[in-house]
Amino acid sequence: MSTRPMLTRVPSDSPWTVSNQHRFSQRRWRPLLMFTLLACSTVAIFTVGLPVGVPISTFTFTSSSKVTSDHPSALSYSTHPITRMMKEAEERFQAKIDRQSKTLSEAIEEYKHRYGMPPPKGFDKWWEFATKNNVVLVDEYDTLMRDLAPFYALRGQKDLGDYADEDEDPSRPGSGLDHQGWALGGGHEMRRRISEVAGVASIDMVQIRKGNLSTVSISKDGFVDDEVSARAKGLKAMLGSSAANLPDIDFPVNAKAEGRVIIPWDRWTVAGQGGMTGEKIGLGMGNRSYIEDSAPHDTKDTLHPLADFHPDWRGAGNVWDKWRRTCPPISTARKSYASIRSAIVEGTSPSHHHLLMGGTSDATVPPPFAFAPSTSFDTVSFCEQPHLHYTQGHFFSDWRTLDDLYPVLSPARAKGFGDIKIPSHYYYGSTQAYTYGWDKVKQKVHSVDLGEVAWGDLTDVGPDGQGGVDDRDLVIDPNFDGHNNTSNPPRNRKTGKESKRNKIFWRGATTGGGNSPPGFAALYQRHRAVRMADWDAEGDVEVWVPSTNPIANVSSISVSSSGTPHSPTNVDAPLKAHKIPIAALNKALMDVAFVKASNANQYPGGLKKLKEEHRFADGVSLGNHWQYKYLLDLDGMSYSGRFMSFLASDSVPVKSTVYEEFFSDWIEPWLHYIPLSSSYEEIYNIFGYFSGIPAEVVEEVYGDAVDPETGAPLFPPGTKIPAIPGAPDGDERLQHIAQAGKKWKNTIARKVDMESYVYRLALEWARLNAVDRESMTIKV
Ligand SMILES: *[C@@H]1O[C@H](CO)[C@@H](O)[C@H](O)[C@H]1NC(C)=O
Ligand SMILES: *[C@@H]1O[C@H](CO)[C@@H](O)[C@H](O)[C@H]1NC(C)=O
Ligand SMILES: *[C@@H]1O[C@H](CO)[C@@H](O)[C@H](O)[C@H]1NC(C)=O
Ligand SMILES: *[C@@H]1O[C@H](CO)[C@@H](O)[C@H](O)[C@H]1NC(C)=O
Ligand SMILES: *[C@@H]1O[C@H](CO)[C@@H](O)[C@H](O)[C@H]1NC(C)=O
Repeated sequence: MSTRPMLTRVPSDSPWTVSNQHRFSQRRWRPLLMFTLLACSTVAIFTVGLPVGVPISTFTFTSSSKVTSDHPSALSYSTHPITRMMKEAEERFQAKIDRQSKTLSEAIEEYKHRYGMPPPKGFDKWWEFATKNNVVLVDEYDTLMRDLAPFYALRGQKDLGDYADEDEDPSRPGSGLDHQGWALGGGHEMRRRISEVAGVASIDMVQIRKGNLSTVSISKDGFVDDEVSARAKGLKAMLGSSAANLPDIDFPVNAKAEGRVIIPWDRWTVAGQGGMTGEKIGLGMGNRSYIEDSAPHDTKDTLHPLADFHPDWRGAGNVWDKWRRTCPPISTARKSYASIRSAIVEGTSPSHHHLLMGGTSDATVPPPFAFAPSTSFDTVSFCEQPHLHYTQGHFFSDWRTLDDLYPVLSPARAKGFGDIKIPSHYYYGSTQAYTYGWDKVKQKVHSVDLGEVAWGDLTDVGPDGQGGVDDRDLVIDPNFDGHNNTSNPPRNRKTGKESKRNKIFWRGATTGGGNSPPGFAALYQRHRAVRMADWDAEGDVEVWVPSTNPIANVSSISVSSSGTPHSPTNVDAPLKAHKIPIAALNKALMDVAFVKASNANQYPGGLKKLKEEHRFADGVSLGNHWQYKYLLDLDGMSYSGRFMSFLASDSVPVKSTVYEEFFSDWIEPWLHYIPLSSSYEEIYNIFGYFSGIPAEVVEEVYGDAVDPETGAPLFPPGTKIPAIPGAPDGDERLQHIAQAGKKWKNTIARKVDMESYVYRLALEWARLNAVDRESMTIKV
């Protein structure tokens, strides 16, 4: 008989209460680990749903930056959310750098403090490696530890001899914990699951044997998969500097970009509730524990539930249907999903059109003047707003997910998934398509890419004092492609200075999700972005600019007869709104297009419809991006492999993603890049803040405006129509983000930082795999 606990359903929305850590002695580390991770903030595996009644919005503010209920008209430059978030981001990042451990013993104390247990064996060697290589953020591994926490909760099976009753701590009978507080038989169970998952298609193994590394592909009969295991090779390369110091271990690496592991809510329980005894405390995350399969196993042969696993859905099931089971039973995604689904599928819901346009579902809620504090990993609750899942392709992946806790290393992790993050091989390797400054001929990375273009004059007040620079102010050579021909970059028409173009640029393929179930491609993140940026888009958008001079409002626009502008009169003037046709803005600001239609047959209406409804343009080289100030960065089938190159450049990434990646603890949104919500709707107000409203748009909107008193045209023929400036130092701020991101990439996300990350992961892995975990713990 199995001694493992029975499966218990716990109808609780808030299992995340603090466990009572004081009941444990200092040596009993496990519970503290879980407690600490919880206290850290978000628990990645679960969606902590937003309270019911929160207005529909794809983003909310964190507690440190409270929701602003202020109407934008009550805001000014100094109280603008972007001004505030940029300041807070800089302070947060500086504080993070300052508080890093300086010595090994400080680092050990910090580790114990954060995770409630001593570091794994070999931590001292890792520390040597990290300090020798000037790793800056030596203490920041919380998201890695959160990925691993459930595996520390795995217990072995007494009926299979993984442990005996005598192994248990006598003071906590039935706890399943040993004398040091480690889960009994956890190492056995970990190894069992690793070898099981290695048999799944598109999972490769990286092995360490006597300090040597190799990649192993376990044969998977019957399933043909042509994707090469570049990700496993990538991990192998990253482990090169640590393998010699590691024991024999195996890493199952996901060959796909998409997440593979989704653990349903039912697999977890809350100690002390639902008839469970206190025995579960310490086995899981806080009071919440992972429940292993409750069916008794008689022999090791029956331990392979994955034996019949089909790696694709074959029409039966889909990611979303599995995913929503990670939500609490009382969440919207679990309760009323069926009715929402039918309304949207049939297109009868009034929200259908709005959703298509990338908005939220409730058309009665005015578009918020709100900015995402970070990308969407933590800010969107698909459990409470299940209709939003239609807007993200990862819920439509064709790859069947594993419904149980299996150790799979993946390059990114979306909320609700159980994959363990490793750095992407695109980031670690060097390629023409993904690496800034890569010189294929010399096989080296230059610090400045061939296609790089100088920022140009800071343009808020412009070289002629009239604010803004748009493409009409530049001489643009169509031969310049940022790669094969870089002889003539864009230049300011007046000053002759090399200058980046003030536009938001994106190119990519129509990838972005699978086809399970079919018919939803139009709603995926890339398609929505291309349609949003359409030059023929209908409707208006309100752009609020923190202008500093009188031309903020057109009825007070006046240019002195000498042509010199009014100097800024009131640096902290209130924001002013300008209602502008989206098409006019898109023409001036947006250069967003698909370059390639993949799987066009999956688009409703096929290739013809896809091309009708979306802009397509010629392919470009990576180097072509650097002539633009704003680089939109969107998820594809998974995370965006281009992000590191965008950061390395002198341009500014504007990133929307639902993924967390290995560097998520290390980077600071609004300091190193601009985060964009999953709806993208605030993008015009982001541009307005940094760059104002280009003259070309002002001309279109106000070109025929007349003085309300005299009826005379405001801009008589022949007058130059000025741009409307954004924040007084908007362009400078934008450039500051570009520079901070570049510096971050070159000091905190170097290849050696990725090696440091996988080194730390490998040390934890070795302990997780050990039968005697105490022996794999550092002795201090
Ligand atoms: C590890 O690599 C070294 C050097 O290539 C070799 O001599 C040794 O036999 C290898 N060990 C194993 C276990 O493969
Ligand atoms: C956690 O466990 C403790 C001890 O059994 C109990 O007092 C507490 O209520 C539990 N919390 C939750 C949320 O179940
Ligand atoms: C590169 O661009 C320059 C400037 O437009 C042009 O004169 C030259 O012919 C181009 N070179 C090639 C190889 O296309
Ligand atoms: C300009 O400001 C005046 C008063 O502040 C206001 O009545 C008018 O509507 C504004 N015009 C525009 C185009 O925003
Ligand atoms: C650059 O030239 C190569 C080879 O001549 C060609 O394959 C590539 O498409 C060109 N790139 C661009 C951006 O024109």
